[in-house]
Amino acid sequence: MLSYQHAYHAGNPADVHKHFALAEVLRLLTVKDRGVSYLETHAGRGLYDLSSEEAQKTGEAAEGITLVPSTDDIAFFKALAAVRAEYGDTAYPGSPMVAAKLLRPQDRMVFIERHPQEHAALRRAMKRSGAEIHHRDAFEGARAVVPLNPRRGLVLIDPPYEVKTDYADTGKLAADLRRRWPEAAVMVWYPILRAGRHTELLAATEEPDRIVHEVTFDLKGGQGMTGSGLLLLGAPYGTDAALEKVMAASASILRALS
Ligand SMILES: C[S@@+](CC[C@H](N)C(=O)[O-])C[C@H]1O[C@@H](n2cnc3c(N)ncnc32)[C@H](O)[C@@H]1O
Repeated sequence: MLSYQHAYHAGNPADVHKHFALAEVLRLLTVKDRGVSYLETHAGRGLYDLSSEEAQKTGEAAEGITLVPSTDDIAFFKALAAVRAEYGDTAYPGSPMVAAKLLRPQDRMVFIERHPQEHAALRRAMKRSGAEIHHRDAFEGARAVVPLNPRRGLVLIDPPYEVKTDYADTGKLAADLRRRWPEAAVMVWYPILRAGRHTELLAATEEPDRIVHEVTFDLKGGQGMTGSGLLLLGAPYGTDAALEKVMAASASILRALS
């Protein structure tokens, strides 16, 4: 079993990039009353405490969310405020919790997480959310559960990239989920490292209207990560403008990668 635990990285600049963009895409998808489905292939534990030993050990949130001023313009801050009202001032929402705070009763959430402890913690965090939670492998499980009803929706693919083959496998998974469930948008997060392996991921997903959104940031202990990327396939109308808003709101830590 590999050992990645997101608690060491929660709230870092890459999380700000991913979670701000995720919240904006969810906002765009829920403008109409009709329900949507939201699937996460690598969900993590859903809820983090920035005062925990793990978070304090790396101090990554201090270089991330802590430096970004809250604004009503950004949907993520609605989720953050709801989570802090419920769990305290040092709580930080993982992506499943961002979705749980922004989606509505008519929407459906399905989460996949393979790590036993992370899965158990996710179940606890999502107890009252109505989410369906699977303890299984993402690459097998996501292919098995799609398409979901309601048909309109979003898939977030956010693997730890602990093994080199994760890049190509993630690209193939994204392309495959688009074929199996064309009504859903797909959003993939990837790290930008010197080795540049994310190009393998991008090569597998050559849709003409795809969005590739890459940022750079400073992160002292970031294990060589110089930036983060988001690949969006079938993104809803308005996503480009929403990403510009994300950049403006997080200008204290994120810079566009040109
Ligand atoms: C980057 S973290 C997810 C963070 C989460 N999306 C968030 O933003 O809050 C990746 C997660 O994938 C899980 N994982 C790793 N390999 C997996 C696999 N093959 N299938 C399902 N989950 C896996 C890890 O245990 C970890 O919790």
